Amino acid sequence: MNLLQKIRQNAILNQMRIVLPEAFDERTLKAANIILKEGFAKIILTGSPTKIEADAKRLKLEYLHKALIINPKEHTKKNEYAKLLVEIRKKKGMTMEQALKLVEDPLYLAALIIKSGDADGEVAGAANTTGDVLRPAFQIVKTLPGISVVSGAFFMFVNNKTHGEEGLLLFADCAVNPNPTAPQLAEIAVATGRTASAIAGIEPRVAMLSFSTKGSAKHEMVTKVAEATAIAKKMAPDMKIDGELQADAALIEVVANKKSPNSPIGGQANVLVFPSLEVGNIAYKLVERLGDAVAVGPILQGMAAPINDLSRGCSVEDIVNLVAITANQAQIK
Ligand code: ACO
Repeated sequence: MNLLQKIRQNAILNQMRIVLPEAFDERTLKAANIILKEGFAKIILTGSPTKIEADAKRLKLEYLHKALIINPKEHTKKNEYAKLLVEIRKKKGMTMEQALKLVEDPLYLAALIIKSGDADGEVAGAANTTGDVLRPAFQIVKTLPGISVVSGAFFMFVNNKTHGEEGLLLFADCAVNPNPTAPQLAEIAVATGRTASAIAGIEPRVAMLSFSTKGSAKHEMVTKVAEATAIAKKMAPDMKIDGELQADAALIEVVANKKSPNSPIGGQANVLVFPSLEVGNIAYKLVERLGDAVAVGPILQGMAAPINDLSRGCSVEDIVNLVAITANQAQIK
């Protein structure tokens, strides 16, 4: 059984409630149908029940009737959710009038459903930008205690099984923080190491990537990664973390032996931490498209409840996989 099958199997046992707020998107409906058929999560769809039922019929989605449908325009908890939104955002000047409008936005509604304890997680982004998915999540669900920065990791399944953990690597941050500071980069590294052990069940070997290996180049960008490495090691003294490393020194044993002979990772990194979002986002898409890898994610780390964001280019299978991972994160929480 491969990792994704294990993750789905684990989800079946726990039956977490996952909101899919993009029920107007056909891929989302098809994914919901597969999830309900396989029975690995309870699905909540937000949208017009009449439209969803008509789409289900047209697309021959036989299991969709098992989903709970919440109509953002009218449902029994609309006022309750609006009051909760005012309560959470009153310091930011939120009025009841504004809140009543926002609760009709499926992305705000989904975050409020989770905050109220009526669902365990959310997957969106097939039809909305990352910023639009994340903003309500940050504002309403917020971060875990002690976490200041949410980041996005990808599970990358590459064809060459000698890399990472039999072909599995985690890449971060590929989704959220455009230019993290050294302390933020350290948090991202530790969070990704923890995702590797909690969700993938592997012992993390974290490489903090740069264009320099152990001082081979001097630049403020290199200094940032070296500082982040030192902070991350203090935050998680039991985790194998090394930096700054070039990608070849992180991934290839013979190169590591030359460039960084004392590295605790020894050219066998299974978690790659990128110095900025620019690098992380470009890297994962290049490895996926040119390297023919399977990219699953981004898995958001550090949120008080699991909310995960898809790329708008995602497939039905991508949505199904991310819901399974979200259900696992919810169960761990
Ligand atoms: N972690 C936790 N909370 C955060 C974070 C973070 N990384 N970033 C912002 N917040 C919080 C802020 O504290 C703020 O909270 P408050 O309103 O309670 O004070 C709230 O979120 C809004 O913050 P802003 O800075 O006003 O939000 P902004 O909209 O400017 O930025 C965002 C946040 C949307 C995440 C922005 O950083 C962004 O757009 N990042 C890039 C996303 C992206 O485009 N990724 C690439 C594509 S993803 C892909 O390809 C799969």
